Amino acid sequence: MIRSVIVGSGSYLPERVMTNAELAGMVDTSDEWIVARSGIRQRHIAAEGETTGDLAEAAARDALDHAGLQPDDIDLIVLATATPDSTFPATATVVQSRLGIRHGAAFDVQAVCSGFIYALATADNFLKAGQFRRALVIGAETFSRILDWEDRTTCVLFGDGAGAIVLEAMEGDGTNADRGILTSHLHADGCHHDLLYVDGGPSSTQTVGHLRMSGKEVFRHAVVNLSAVINEALEATGLKAEDIDWVIPHQANKRILDGTARKLKLDPSKVVVTVDRHGNTSAASVPLALTEAVRDGRIQRGQLLLLEAMGGGFTWGSALVRW
Ligand code: UT7
Repeated sequence: MIRSVIVGSGSYLPERVMTNAELAGMVDTSDEWIVARSGIRQRHIAAEGETTGDLAEAAARDALDHAGLQPDDIDLIVLATATPDSTFPATATVVQSRLGIRHGAAFDVQAVCSGFIYALATADNFLKAGQFRRALVIGAETFSRILDWEDRTTCVLFGDGAGAIVLEAMEGDGTNADRGILTSHLHADGCHHDLLYVDGGPSSTQTVGHLRMSGKEVFRHAVVNLSAVINEALEATGLKAEDIDWVIPHQANKRILDGTARKLKLDPSKVVVTVDRHGNTSAASVPLALTEAVRDGRIQRGQLLLLEAMGGGFTWGSALVRW
């Protein structure tokens, strides 16, 4: 059977770092509160004029370099973002044009913080169906542009960034020993719209709007939904929690990472954590964390990775990947 194998990963973070101390000068907050409640110490913020497409292009080039491939080798771009450069066309087509690719398909996927898992599953299914051979899967966001910088309950939590992977269709045996995506699971429940949403949009207000979140409620749902979707991936493959070498979670809050690991009896030292330095970068957080652990040598060929995320919609999902 065809397996979608990750043959390269890359990332990009804007140069400017915003510390908690800087935020404490803008809203009624403190480094102590932000660290204690979220684990976040700093986040990166895009420069004026620097767009999601710019971040995505840089991450995509980094992933192509890492894979040893040329832009022309790619025939599918799936880009996850909730902060596109324009209402249309898709930011994926911006990246495609910047890379000089004139063939294949390019489109955006919108599942907010779960966007990368949705994009990964989408590309995987196209590759397994034989419709494309090599895909760039990108998560890129500039949440700094949709934050209400006077709302201390949200503006301290998010950051900008981008991550990307190259997926290649390869022949596998159909067993858990195969390299590539072994299983993926996606969910949505639109009933919870009001707990995490943006209060604007082209068809409703003709404005971009600002992020609104009932953090406590989202937190509660996150631990429950993530635990369920991780168990679903393990049950689908017959693998066990102890088989997982690295957990690459969406990075919303260190307490969510700890709570989920505890619930599933996962060794916390196997959880890749970037939230302290990146904040919540929405769809970019999983490929950013993945790339960090690949590049620093933690992730080794043949190891089993668990990717998971939960976000606005609500949407949530998981994937088991052999590196
Ligand atoms: O990526 C998509 C998914 N998103 C998430 O998963 C986010 C999930 N939620 C969370 O991470 C947490 O709920 C937060 C970090 C957002 C908040 O932590 P919490 O422990 O749930 O705090 P809380 O919202 O219950 O707020 C506690 C107190 C409140 O004051 P009172 O009502 O107790 O007087 C808030 O007004 O902290 C206050 N507060 C702050 N104080 C200082 C809220 N924001 C701040 C702040 N600085 N920035």
